[in-house]
Amino acid sequence: MSTTLAPETVAGFRTAWRDLAPVGRATTGGYQRLAWTHDDLTLREWFAAQAVARGLDLVEDRAGNQWAWWGDPDADGPGVVTGSHLDSVPGGGAFDGPLGVVSALAAVDELRARGVRPSRPLGVACFTEEEGGRFGVACAGSRLLTGVLGPDRALGLRDTGGTTLADALRAAGRDPSTLGPDPQALARVGSFVELHVEQGRALVHSGDPVGVGRAIWPHGRWRVDLHGRGDHAGTTPLADRVDPMLALAALVQEVRAAALEAGALATVGKVVVEPNGVNAIPSLVRAWLDVRADDEHRVRQVLDRLRGYAPVEESWTGPTVLDADLSDTVAAALGDAGLTPPHLSTGAGHDAGILAAAGVPTTMLFVRNPTGVSHDPAEDADEADCLIGVGALTAALTRLVGD
Ligand code: GLV
Ligand code: MN
Ligand code: MN
Ligand code: MN
Repeated sequence: MSTTLAPETVAGFRTAWRDLAPVGRATTGGYQRLAWTHDDLTLREWFAAQAVARGLDLVEDRAGNQWAWWGDPDADGPGVVTGSHLDSVPGGGAFDGPLGVVSALAAVDELRARGVRPSRPLGVACFTEEEGGRFGVACAGSRLLTGVLGPDRALGLRDTGGTTLADALRAAGRDPSTLGPDPQALARVGSFVELHVEQGRALVHSGDPVGVGRAIWPHGRWRVDLHGRGDHAGTTPLADRVDPMLALAALVQEVRAAALEAGALATVGKVVVEPNGVNAIPSLVRAWLDVRADDEHRVRQVLDRLRGYAPVEESWTGPTVLDADLSDTVAAALGDAGLTPPHLSTGAGHDAGILAAAGVPTTMLFVRNPTGVSHDPAEDADEADCLIGVGALTAALTRLVGD
């Protein structure tokens, strides 16, 4: 076997990127594809159309995730699932998420072009709000699916404009009362392989187009509310102010110092200021903190040092060791296809981590990113590497479902 693809697979892959390129394009040159917005609904329709065009059975689970099944996972399952997400962070790149979905559909095309008849059902998944770019909780769709995020909490989550998830679902034509865990949808997933653009430069350094995932770092998000006293910028003496911007500046410095001390990564990447007027002392600054490390203890060390700020946990993903047998099987299939994929651990979060925590044997494939940059328009992948990625995924799936 090799990673060379049939011409119709390559043509389909290119058409998919052409279809997706204009959706949610931000003025910065990146993408603004936030859950349940108009652009997200366009992406969902696109995914549904891709499923229908391939004769796959489209299912939307109770958490809002989309599945396209080749074969019947209820009768003949559980199946093998591949896929990723189509939402982006605010101003994100083109590949984080979509590469896994487009590659999954292309792998189905390639399996068909090669005449493979799966002996088990094969599913393509498209998870909802993986980034938490709108409602804050990372991997919200897979957390809802598996039940680690309950519907009561989820429905009350608000975006920065104050819209709740419940209202966003209603506006998107969904019934919020049906939102919740979906054990039946989860039970269809016998194993999961998520292909993803690499979000660092390990593959650039090793000189490999693809790698196989081994672990996902623990990762948490916290909200910190810094209260002040709103007042006039021109009439309030400095000594009389309670200015939460000063507290924010101190927090950012403290976060960095704590991360350096603990050997962790910590970021304050989002703030909301009220009332956000140039001539008003803020009454409130709300800051979000993202902390990760190769072990949980380091993350906890950062949080311990910040306890005085009363951080409120928004989401937590424990350390994830991807399934060793599945990863070995996938690596062996790639080896047969002429690749020598290195093993990678990642500090980025993925639905794969949530499924793994729910007991689904899970692994990941990474495609080289020449810039190493992600969550930014500079995120990149060469088409030649992406096509090798499709070939690698096809080889893996052939091993897992092939006749
Ligand atoms: C999502 O990609 C994350 O790692 O936060
Ligand atoms: Mn991401
Ligand atoms: Mn992603
Ligand atoms: Mn992610």
